[in-house]
Amino acid sequence: MEVLNKGEGVRWGLVLVLCFVFAVLVPRLEADIAVFDDVWKQRAEQAHNASKEAYDPNPDVVTDNFNSHVHKAVEGANSTRRNLKKTGGGCVATNPIDRCWRCQKDWMQNRKRLAGCALGFGRKAIGGKNGKFYTVTDSSDDDMVNPKPGTLRHAVIQPGPLWIIFARDMVIRLSEELIMTSDKTIDARGANVYIVEGAGITIQFIKNVIIHGLHIRDIVASNGGLIRDSADHYGLRTRADGDGISIYGSSDIWVDHVSMSNCQDGLIDIIMASTAITISNGHFTHHNDVMLFGASDSYSGDSVMQVTVAFNHFGQGLVQRMPRARWGFIHVVNNDYTHWLMYAIGGSQHPTIISQGNRFIAPPNEAAKEVTKRDYAPESEWKTWTWRSEEDLMMNGAFFVQSGGPLKSQADDVIPAKPGSYVTRLTRYSGALSCKANQPC
Ligand SMILES: *[C@@H]1O[C@H](CO)[C@@H](O)[C@H](O)[C@H]1NC(C)=O
Ligand SMILES: *[C@@H]1O[C@H](CO)[C@@H](O)[C@H](O)[C@H]1NC(C)=O
Repeated sequence: MEVLNKGEGVRWGLVLVLCFVFAVLVPRLEADIAVFDDVWKQRAEQAHNASKEAYDPNPDVVTDNFNSHVHKAVEGANSTRRNLKKTGGGCVATNPIDRCWRCQKDWMQNRKRLAGCALGFGRKAIGGKNGKFYTVTDSSDDDMVNPKPGTLRHAVIQPGPLWIIFARDMVIRLSEELIMTSDKTIDARGANVYIVEGAGITIQFIKNVIIHGLHIRDIVASNGGLIRDSADHYGLRTRADGDGISIYGSSDIWVDHVSMSNCQDGLIDIIMASTAITISNGHFTHHNDVMLFGASDSYSGDSVMQVTVAFNHFGQGLVQRMPRARWGFIHVVNNDYTHWLMYAIGGSQHPTIISQGNRFIAPPNEAAKEVTKRDYAPESEWKTWTWRSEEDLMMNGAFFVQSGGPLKSQADDVIPAKPGSYVTRLTRYSGALSCKANQPC
């Protein structure tokens, strides 16, 4: 979902064909919910309260803490490598999130260890840690109101915490949006799970979700209709735009090691007062509007939005919005930007963007060397927005136009971000992993 003004379309006239700028979409406060009944009203209010609570009044403590974890992981990597050599393992987890679990042979017996591994704003997401396991055995998605036991749709509507895993490799074509409930982990490790050519995943007015290891691609708009959204409720939905993962009014969310490409709308949208979110270790390719954080310049509720974007590889065939942000606070750290056609990081309505230790490789097009893009504001206005670049590695003519004052003078013991020259190491294993039982992953 996005609000576009005509200026943007005109400015990028050459790529008009790539964009869906013809439709001027009005942000819909009620999202794809056709009947905003008492159940949804209650969920919306609860979620709104949860977002306020999840909001961190000291975001710079979170960013510093993240950087210090990376520092320790990189410093420790030498000794780890030596140890692994001794035991014959070939696994090198190059970043602190992966080091938390990836090189342990017994990852399958200890799946829930993952729940303590997130860093950044989404670090409190534990998903279904305190629940049972649910094994998805059936890739079908035929009944939206009474989903068949064994399907992913049946799993995600169960009450209470649940750790969802997959019995085997599968390709799931969702007939309508997959509407999740709180306290769930979707853990695709050990199977190749593809969500393709149907609707995407909707995380709406809920909290505490981990999504790990999915391949999501070719997601298309869906028509809507009656869809069950919890064990005891279903309701009428309108058309969904075809986002890969849509995070709407939700908090404590961690999306890790996903591979995503070519969805009809965005790959990942974070909108309507969502917060406390980390997107890490993703591999993103072949897409126009990659990530939209905040869909409306007039919705100040997105001021609570705090998102960490870390260790991702923004790769082939991407055009723009990695991310495009409004209102909130975004830590973009240690990502590898190897391709973009228009720009990498953009925004409007004074978001704070802390770009640290990324590698930005600009495209050959002389007109697209700038990493940043500000919309709907003259320089006199945007020069006060805090958009800072530290330790970023700029290649092939890439440049980041900074604004706002330098970051708060940091205490002496604060460890700076690992420089962008480390990024190829830190992101080497981005995207969905191929994990085998009883082997390091
Ligand atoms: C949300 O917070 C308000 C104010 O603290 C409270 O009155 C209300 O009951 C809360 N609503 C829900 C659904 O928890
Ligand atoms: C790893 O060891 C090499 C050789 O001893 C050294 O040059 C390098 O600085 C070390 N790297 C880190 C990150 O400690």
